[in-house]
Amino acid sequence: MSNGQFLVIEGLEGAGKSTAIATVEQWLTQQNIHFISTREPGGTQLAEQLRDILKYYDKEPITAPSELLLMYAARSQLLENKIKPALSAGSWVIGDRHDLSSRAYQGGGRQIPMAQLDHLRELTLGNFRPNLTLYLDINPLVGLERARNRGELDRIEQQTLDFFHRAREVYLSEAKSDPEHIKVVDASCPLAEVQQQIIQILNDYVNTHE
Ligand SMILES: Nc1ncnc2c1ncn2[C@@H]1O[C@H](COP(=O)(O)OP(=O)(O)OP(=O)(O)O)[C@@H](O)[C@H]1O
Ligand SMILES: [Mg+2]
Repeated sequence: MSNGQFLVIEGLEGAGKSTAIATVEQWLTQQNIHFISTREPGGTQLAEQLRDILKYYDKEPITAPSELLLMYAARSQLLENKIKPALSAGSWVIGDRHDLSSRAYQGGGRQIPMAQLDHLRELTLGNFRPNLTLYLDINPLVGLERARNRGELDRIEQQTLDFFHRAREVYLSEAKSDPEHIKVVDASCPLAEVQQQIIQILNDYVNTHE
């Protein structure tokens, strides 16, 4: 496969995304594939400032529409200024979260109607979609416990459990409706098994896209 591919890792807090990305990076290095890693929200100077606001701003409540618009503002910056140029240069791009996170969190969690998210996706991403998304599925209780063990929880991580259950439902239903592009990984398994699932998916992907 000579073209750059956009791989996205998705999942709830503490699902193991950062850990999974290390596995993907190792696999790409073994395949001699050049790649860059990005994260959302963030990944450009402006988008990182928006990330800080989204995670830690506490001077006044951030409304659900503001949060949504800030997420898409950050995503647009990252897409146009980092992801697309890297893909055009033939690099692969690994994304720690992308549009599916907004559908899960702002759509499922905050209950903003999906039709509104469809409009924003159209405005900021057009027809652009990841080539492959690995969704790390986990019970939010387990994920939050893992995240909590790692340190203080940020503004979004402090939402109620219901919020994360709704987000998980969106992840699972989107994966079900687009199984070719969104692969579900059982992230409740021990790390070695999660890594095996990821490598299997990556090998299948290159074998079927040669
Ligand atoms: N399969 C696993 N089993 C047990 N613990 C795990 C597993 N995968 C990751 N962990 C641990 O859980 C914690 C959260 O993992 P990680 O930081 O990779 O999650 P994340 O999805 O990137 O979280 P965040 O959404 O906060 O960025 C880490 O301490 C990590 O070592
Ligand atoms: Mg992480």
